Amino acid sequence: MKVLVVGGGGREHALAWKLSRSKKVKKLYAAPGNPGIAQIGTCVDILATDIQGLARFAESKKIDLTVVGPEVPLALGIVDEFERRGLKIFGPNQKASRIESDKAFAREFMYRFGLPAPKFQIYTSASSALKYLKTVNKFPVVVKAAGLAAGKGVSVVASRKEYEKKVDEILVQHRFGEAGKTIVVEEFLTGQEASIFVLTDGINMVYLPSSQDHKKLNDRNRGPNTGGMGAYAPYPTNKRVTNIIEEVIMQPTVLSLRDQGIDYRGVLYAGIIITSLGPKILEFNCRFGDPEAQVILPILEGDIIEPLMAVTERKLADVKIKTKNHWSICVVLASGGYPYEYRIGEEITFKSSLSKKTLIFHAGTKMEDSKLVSASGRVMNVVTTHENLKVAKHRVYEEIKKIHFKGMYYRKDIGNSGMKKMKRKRRR
Ligand code: GLY
Repeated sequence: MKVLVVGGGGREHALAWKLSRSKKVKKLYAAPGNPGIAQIGTCVDILATDIQGLARFAESKKIDLTVVGPEVPLALGIVDEFERRGLKIFGPNQKASRIESDKAFAREFMYRFGLPAPKFQIYTSASSALKYLKTVNKFPVVVKAAGLAAGKGVSVVASRKEYEKKVDEILVQHRFGEAGKTIVVEEFLTGQEASIFVLTDGINMVYLPSSQDHKKLNDRNRGPNTGGMGAYAPYPTNKRVTNIIEEVIMQPTVLSLRDQGIDYRGVLYAGIIITSLGPKILEFNCRFGDPEAQVILPILEGDIIEPLMAVTERKLADVKIKTKNHWSICVVLASGGYPYEYRIGEEITFKSSLSKKTLIFHAGTKMEDSKLVSASGRVMNVVTTHENLKVAKHRVYEEIKKIHFKGMYYRKDIGNSGMKKMKRKRRR
């Protein structure tokens, strides 16, 4: 088979790596890919947003399956265009992708079908958004641009003054352009967060390991939000919470999407918060998480092609996915200053060779004068797996000591919440 991966970040490197291990995959392409993917496949210089360019490439190379990493091409309708041309592609179509690309639509959908979610309001003008202040008596609240805003559209607002400023920024100054034409204002919830992934062909569902992302820049979940500073899997939820997630959230969501005439085929990613009142949906995404994919894919047994093809062909009922009895942990190495201003072009060096068991997934790197250099805020993902989470964590941080680039920054506490949970479980 010939397979094309769309995208060029850590998630896409993890997808390409897993695909490269399939006996069925004889030729692997990535567009645009990255220097890490270039070691296992052929990178082609087509942007992930160039839908026509990608479709022409897939036709010319007779690609058997295209796997889409990021949300933007999905929201632009890459799946609709590929299917129109008779090309097989993994991911939801444009209408189904609204579950992520239109947060107002997603919240109304959750409300209509009684899915557990925070209270929310939707506004399209500053004057109506400011009236919200007459009804609210508790801060913080969450303000979201309804459209895709490259992970920057969600703010936790701590006071009336901040709220007014945020409304002005999005609905008056149009900071996010079209993506900020509508805002969703939500109740702020507290609790541990978990990322839940299912593959679905619109009817059948197969669960992938749950995971926990670490969105804040600094240890102990302090500092500004980022695209994700690390993750571990599986996220250890107890039986009661797991049942609620599966039976009250995921299954009804897939059924309700179908009920709405939405042909959702792909991965459905629910960002869940486990509050004192039970799990609630923070958001739905229409693709694999980043950096969650980097921890989930290494602990999946078997050939990934089979479930991905089954999703596109609506044959998921026949598929089972086995997970290794391992923990997986990913630490993101970021450029100093990220998520604000940071330098790129710093040479990445390895003081000694990494263990063969360690996985490196490139995120923002490039080759410059035959040297590997940083090219973005999140630069690299270092991943280890082990039966014991403590050992996996120890190893990942030992491996990181071998990697260097000027200004390299990373969190030191990835996996701690899992270790605490396991300790409490052992005590009981
Ligand atoms: N891990 C967050 C995301 O992929 O959106």
